[in-house]
Amino acid sequence: MSVANRFITLEGGEGAGKSTCLRFVAEYFAARALPLCVTREPGGTPLAESIRELLLQKRDEPVAADTELLLMFAARAQHLEALIRPALARGEWVLSDRFTDATYAYQGYGRGLPLPRIAALESLVQGDLRPGLTLLLDLPVSEGMARAEARAEKDRFESEQEAFFERVREGYRLRAAAEPERFRVIDASRPLPEVQAAIGRALDAWLKELAV
Ligand code: TMP
Repeated sequence: MSVANRFITLEGGEGAGKSTCLRFVAEYFAARALPLCVTREPGGTPLAESIRELLLQKRDEPVAADTELLLMFAARAQHLEALIRPALARGEWVLSDRFTDATYAYQGYGRGLPLPRIAALESLVQGDLRPGLTLLLDLPVSEGMARAEARAEKDRFESEQEAFFERVREGYRLRAAAEPERFRVIDASRPLPEVQAAIGRALDAWLKELAV
């Protein structure tokens, strides 16, 4: 497996504070004058953002789990080809707000799709490219949902029931436990300065390991 050490992903359930932490990581890299490309999934390019709209829109027609899975990977294929791989090739760092761990957590554990089916698409679309470091913002589902409740309009995923998000959280935690060398699990229920300090320590250690 080819691990792109400069490819960092940020994951977490609803209301985990991903957006704030994303800004913190961006500032961390800016302060060290390291070129960073910040992006998100599903999305990151105009076409992939259009696919994101299709995925997040609430609609009367039930969305088949496989349709959702394939759209996620369609967006990812575009994102990799047009943005992620070129940025890595230029020597930049890439920070993606969600990536394939989200597919395992949401479509695999959340929707109940077989994990080998996801793994097959992962190989097809990514070849052997995997993130070097994944920051997982973990917090109890009830807390995340209470935070997300404050937001205006809920999208198709945010409208899911608590049991769905419990499965998603469990999925993320299982993946983190299975790959401890890639994942750093951050307790996102703590006050923001503590969460950011934990992220800062994880990044410090990562840069040190890479001798940057
Ligand atoms: P967010 O990252 O802005 O919260 O919204 C993206 C939504 O898409 C989020 O609810 C999680 C979901 N998602 C999946 O279900 N599978 C995936 O592979 C990705 C990247 C996101």
